[in-house]
Amino acid sequence: MSSPESATATESSPEDAISEESLKDFISSLPSREGWPQPLIQYKGYWFKPGILEGVLRASRDFAPRAGDVVLATQPKCGTTWLKALAFAVSNRSRHGLGAADHPLLTRHPQHLVPFIEIPGAAGGHVDIGALPSPRLLATHLPMSLLRPETRSLRCRVVYLCRDPKDTLVSRLHFENKVARGGGAGLLMDDAFGMFCEGFSPYGPFWDHCLEYWEESMVRPDTVLFLKYEEIKSDPARVVRRLATFLGIPLTEEEEGSGVAEEVARMCSFEKLTGLEVNQVGGVSHGNKVHVDNSVFYRKGEVGDWANHMSREMGEKLDRMVQDKLQGSGLVF
Ligand code: A3P
Repeated sequence: MSSPESATATESSPEDAISEESLKDFISSLPSREGWPQPLIQYKGYWFKPGILEGVLRASRDFAPRAGDVVLATQPKCGTTWLKALAFAVSNRSRHGLGAADHPLLTRHPQHLVPFIEIPGAAGGHVDIGALPSPRLLATHLPMSLLRPETRSLRCRVVYLCRDPKDTLVSRLHFENKVARGGGAGLLMDDAFGMFCEGFSPYGPFWDHCLEYWEESMVRPDTVLFLKYEEIKSDPARVVRRLATFLGIPLTEEEEGSGVAEEVARMCSFEKLTGLEVNQVGGVSHGNKVHVDNSVFYRKGEVGDWANHMSREMGEKLDRMVQDKLQGSGLVF
């Protein structure tokens, strides 16, 4: 049932027509390429793992944005877990006091606290986002062009987080090799680098994904906030304030006085989160029967770790290539 506050069928896209029965046939009709631990399928210019693409198509068909939704958008390995923790803490601070012994962030993985639109099983069990009360805090790895158009027309707030592509690639390589658990040598940096530079990576091309949100944030800064991992690293409390203001719940004078921004930053820090049992044991299901340990979302949490995993020449090559792709946009890494 739709209402003026939620999406209607008027802005439908062709995927609306894909029935559950024909989903797999449709996917098998799309271009597929080997190289990553799972083959990737190309859909509307982006590459997806097969199980994820099913969720993407279902989301295109079934997801009904609502006015008031907040969507945290990222490419994987750009700091999704961190952004989920920060946005959850900021937006729930009146309900869950930051110092409270029963704060959800102390007992639940940030990935479980903010469900993905297109990966319903990733929140530690199937979450029906249609049944969640408003205002919803949701996450997605989808490019802007694959989000339902009502996300824009209903003025949902979108927070996009990106990261230096070199560190993103290094983080991706480690993640793939941990999740694949196939034994053997795993994916090698040289191979991953080559594929990434071709724009062939999960949810890639990396630069197109960033550009879509960047351009939207330029045109609609009141509804799209564009952040970088590196800026959160350098001043997390400042980003907490920006987030709160963007979400329409700015820190009050009293909160400023009691150091709320710093407290949120501390609570969501790599050190704090990795010290909690919930982030070390257990796991989440990410579609296609892939099980991902909770701990795999935390590795080093540093800026510039790429230098330990690829040569200076490779780093420069990737930088030049990304600069070229982003040229004229104003977005730089
Ligand atoms: P590294 O592999 O470089 O350490 P995502 O959540 O999008 O999958 O991204 C995972 C990356 O974010 C990993 O990067 C992980 O260590 C880092 N990360 C997770 N939580 C973090 C936090 N609280 N602070 C900083 N980085 C964090």
